[in-house]
Amino acid sequence: MVAISVTNLQKSYGKQVVLDSIDLEVSKGSVFCLLGPNGAGKTTTINILSTLLRADGGIATVNGFDVVAQASKVRTQISLTGQFAAVDDVLTGRENLVLIGELRHIDDPAGTAKDSLNEFGLSDAADRRAGTFSGGMRRRLDIAMGLIGDPEVIFFDEPTSGLDPQSRYMMWEKINSLSREGRTVFLTTQNLEEADRLADKISILSKGKIIAEGTASDLKKLLPHGRIELGFPDVEQMNAAAKLFQNYDVTPDNDTRSLMIVTDGSASQIARIFTQIEDAHINISDFSQKTATLDDVFLKIISDHEGNK
Ligand SMILES: Nc1ncnc2c1ncn2[C@@H]1O[C@H](COP(=O)(O)OP(=O)(O)OP(=O)(O)O)[C@@H](O)[C@H]1O
Ligand SMILES: [Mg+2]
Repeated sequence: MVAISVTNLQKSYGKQVVLDSIDLEVSKGSVFCLLGPNGAGKTTTINILSTLLRADGGIATVNGFDVVAQASKVRTQISLTGQFAAVDDVLTGRENLVLIGELRHIDDPAGTAKDSLNEFGLSDAADRRAGTFSGGMRRRLDIAMGLIGDPEVIFFDEPTSGLDPQSRYMMWEKINSLSREGRTVFLTTQNLEEADRLADKISILSKGKIIAEGTASDLKKLLPHGRIELGFPDVEQMNAAAKLFQNYDVTPDNDTRSLMIVTDGSASQIARIFTQIEDAHINISDFSQKTATLDDVFLKIISDHEGNK
């Protein structure tokens, strides 16, 4: 069951190509994460899918409805929490929520607003003007507003930017529970830990193209496993070892007197490295094996992609 399908989507602003024919597919009830650096086109994609912006070409559907030909149908299926708060500063927190409830024709706007204030830790501030809220409180109110009316498909554009660790953690729990309820979540983030924790599927967008996609563990496999880090008692020994491993991908760190060596992950290669160190009479003070983080993958894929241009 497909919730969101995007084929050959294109968008330019003047001469600047922002989306250069992208394809995406998001299954119903899953959490999809669009990852990419500043200016990659994440917000543009979300705006097209949520009918706020018209693409130049391609087809996009949400729950089977075309975002252009059936835009009003699409709007009944979705909610969008944009990158910048949609909160009305003149209204109180409660009034903002009730207003959205009324706009979405839900049964009990006041009761729903009360529950949602409670859920998002805003009960104490409920009757203050939103203009007096802190950045994180506005963000939480904005997210709460997005969820009023139990939308089927939820777009979050960088939902946790500006949240403190506790609120971010709460948001992660919320996203997981939405997905357990069968709702589809489409989110963008720059926070790789977030993508790693939440997403069933991640696509990396860079310069208008999807340059990699898969689960977090699929993406991590794109990096060689088993990098090892060797620590040395002094910089001289470190440099001597760096010379020894010229044929490897080696990154020295003078501050910690350590070398990061990329291996193929095989025990035989690691054994060879230690044998070479022994034979050269170089002392090591410690060693550890590192597995790739999504951060490493993200940076490597983007830099490889840019290098290929
Ligand atoms: N209305 C517009 N007119 C002209 N250029 C625009 C417009 N909106 C976006 N752009 C450009 O399109 C590119 C993609 O913007 P977009 O907001 O989609 O990026 P993003 O991936 O969401 O970035 P960020 O991580 O900073 O939010 C940027 O170079 C931006 O300057
Ligand atoms: Mg954006």
